[in-house]
Amino acid sequence: MSTPRALLSFDTSRLDRIETDLCVIGSGVAGMRAALEAARHGRVLLLTKAALVESNTRYAQGGVAVPMSRGDSVRSHVEDTLQAGHGLCDRRIVEGVIRDAVPRIEELLEWGARFDRVAGRLDFTREGGHSRARILHAGGDATGQAIVDCLVDRVRATSNIQVLENTFCLDLLVRHGECRGALVSIGGKIPPHAIDASRTILATGGLGQLYRETTNPAIATGDGIAAAWRAGAVLEDMEFVQFHPTTFYVAGASRALISEAVRGEGAILRDKTGKRFMPEYHPMAELAPRDVVSRAIVRQIQITHDPSVYLDLTHLPARQVRERFPRLAELCRTFGIDIGKDLIPIRPSAHYFVGGVKIDANGRTSIPGLYAAGECGGARFHGANRLGSNSLLEGLVFGARAGAHAGERLPKKRRDFPRMRIEAGEGDALGINIVDASNSLRSLTWRSVGVEREERGLADAITRIDFWSGYLLRVSFGEPAGWELQNLLTLGRLISGAARRRRESRGTHFRSDFPIMDDGRWKRHLTWKR
Ligand code: FAD
Ligand code: SIN
Repeated sequence: MSTPRALLSFDTSRLDRIETDLCVIGSGVAGMRAALEAARHGRVLLLTKAALVESNTRYAQGGVAVPMSRGDSVRSHVEDTLQAGHGLCDRRIVEGVIRDAVPRIEELLEWGARFDRVAGRLDFTREGGHSRARILHAGGDATGQAIVDCLVDRVRATSNIQVLENTFCLDLLVRHGECRGALVSIGGKIPPHAIDASRTILATGGLGQLYRETTNPAIATGDGIAAAWRAGAVLEDMEFVQFHPTTFYVAGASRALISEAVRGEGAILRDKTGKRFMPEYHPMAELAPRDVVSRAIVRQIQITHDPSVYLDLTHLPARQVRERFPRLAELCRTFGIDIGKDLIPIRPSAHYFVGGVKIDANGRTSIPGLYAAGECGGARFHGANRLGSNSLLEGLVFGARAGAHAGERLPKKRRDFPRMRIEAGEGDALGINIVDASNSLRSLTWRSVGVEREERGLADAITRIDFWSGYLLRVSFGEPAGWELQNLLTLGRLISGAARRRRESRGTHFRSDFPIMDDGRWKRHLTWKR
């Protein structure tokens, strides 16, 4: 696949320029944590394409995993993470991240994060794949919002951080193999601005919007990963997309996530006949790993010819459930479902991107001067599958590490900003319906590169995406929706290609034509470079 080097043609000598020491792109947990750390060393520009508070982080429900509860240990958390990763985690990375977990959480507590407590002690719950109750939560099922509130207050109070909202990062500025900043559109305006930064940290999150069914908000279009690819960074583990088993499935409702913690508290999965089916698929039943539960649901939907299966909480004390999961109770009430009496229709949807821009333990990418942290980075922490609630932890740890490493290595003297010129596709966007093209792409990936994959579907996906790319990537769009479409097409092609290449099943990647995990041939990572 040939991808143009940039979304728009540019010549930096003709653009307005904003100068900073460090540029952080994205304001989820990873970006805000990176900015706070980097601000100890220099001026930070934190830019984000929507409001400061908008991110995947904001919607996180279940919580953050940390080995802090009585009887828990770093070793146990490490072993659970390695087990979920199906042979593709880097043990040293996993041990390092989990050792950093307690200090990162203690810091949040010191900064005022209000995690839930019972009788004054922090309350921990259990989720699938964790052998202990180690999930710290806030506001019941509003953990992400609590973390965002805490970090936003801290960012706003840090004078060294300048925040630019509604600012879209189009591309990375790379000269002689080194990242010198980014090309951004402020408030959707063209021509864009050039950000002149000695160090750039990508924290742009995941790409759930590639799929028709997703738990992710509209911002999750993989922009940072696509920009890094265009700039020549190495990407890794692109075939691993995690599907969450339980998203609310009612006509007219957005695909709201129903936290795994609900099953952790005893909820049961039933099909339309009322049968509890999970024990037939896995000894851990409803608390089996996510990929197993998602596949079981897809199978049960096929067997029963029903569009969904159902989550049953009716045997649990209704008042307690409403207190523990207030957002879920409210959502169900809106759609006329009483969680004390009724079953909740659910289906799986795309949730988390395991792969990303290849990074080392300090968040360094293959391009000097460019770092990545959080969901857009691929650090071999999750391996082939992510354990629930390990992602907020990843964002906190890698955000802090990338911010510190980048900040500590700022050049002593500012260097002149070099002229950079790139010619991109100049085609006219007239006649292109962005919404229609996006919907076609999202349906295709859901059908062919979703929970289950096989050779024919993947080959079809590649052919179609290549055909669409032939005209859609040659065009210069003048608005974020067009740039997002181009980024999703680029990533959809990379994911389909990687999924086709890996002829085995491992973690989140399930090939119905190669259902067995094949360590001999495939216990390795697939990396990609433009
Ligand atoms: P994000 O939080 O997604 O932030 C990305 C930021 O980048 C956003 O501010 C976005 O606006 C910005 N951005 C993107 N593109 C551009 C661009 N082109 N230019 C400028 N800015 C850009 N994980 C857990 O560990 N526990 C949970 O309980 C949990 N629950 C979840 C529930 C839901 C519904 C979802 C969707 C995810 C959940 N996850 C959970 C996963 C977790 O929330 C994310 O993986 C994590 O928050 C990602 O953090 P991040 O900082 O890397 O990215
Ligand atoms: C959930 O609450 O089930 C989501 C947790 C996660 O994605 O880590």
